[in-house]
Amino acid sequence: MRISLKIWRQANPRDKGRMVDYKLDEVSEDSSFLEMLDLLNEHLHEQGEEPVAFDSDCREGICGQCGVVINGEAHGPERTTTCQLHMRSFRDGDEIIIEPWRADAFPVIKDLCVDRGALDRIVAAGGYISANTGSAPDAHATPVPKENADRAFMAAECIGCGACVAACPNASGMLFMGAKITHLGELPQGQPERDARVLKMTEQHDLEGFGGCTNLGECTRACPKGIPLNVISQMNRDLLRTGFSV
Ligand code: SF4
Ligand code: FES
Repeated sequence: MRISLKIWRQANPRDKGRMVDYKLDEVSEDSSFLEMLDLLNEHLHEQGEEPVAFDSDCREGICGQCGVVINGEAHGPERTTTCQLHMRSFRDGDEIIIEPWRADAFPVIKDLCVDRGALDRIVAAGGYISANTGSAPDAHATPVPKENADRAFMAAECIGCGACVAACPNASGMLFMGAKITHLGELPQGQPERDARVLKMTEQHDLEGFGGCTNLGECTRACPKGIPLNVISQMNRDLLRTGFSV
């Protein structure tokens, strides 16, 4: 495949940044999107130019490190992570526009890399339990109804990639936060801190500069793990339980 690329280049957080055009020939349709960027970087390196900075780690859709806006869509045209997107999703001759996540709470560090530490600070504020750790308890020691276990498992699939924030016109982090609150709130071990958790996490969310939810649903459509919008309803119900007015 021959493709044209328009990529956001920004040397550091203070740089204004700009879109830069590149051309790539001989891109295999079986290569992943990140392998295509690796190929571009090899060429840039050979030409003595600065490679494009982008994040990745597992490249298996697990870690949540990767993530860029591709032709206006968080993680691109398929419902998957950027690392699991393949070039066969594009056509020979396509122009592909690549930008970092855009949100006040995710400042650009360099090129396509953003600082997603705000999500970590939301988890640090309340995404934990006080149950003793140690060797794994017997699976039947704490019975959990299947319905609750399934819902906790579904919510635990959130990998913290931030695509929900990037896709939301309000740059809201509520799908991410709702997933964490639902994950722990469905389990007996999550009950002691349940009220404090939702209060502390929502307070941190607002402090970080994320926007509010207006039920547009762009977050769930962009989520590579299919986290449903109703985790936000569960979070709001937990907030109401505490007597907080939403
Ligand atoms: S809710 Fe989905 S889109 Fe948002 S951080 Fe979690 S996995 Fe990523
Ligand atoms: S690099 Fe780990 S999810 Fe993409």
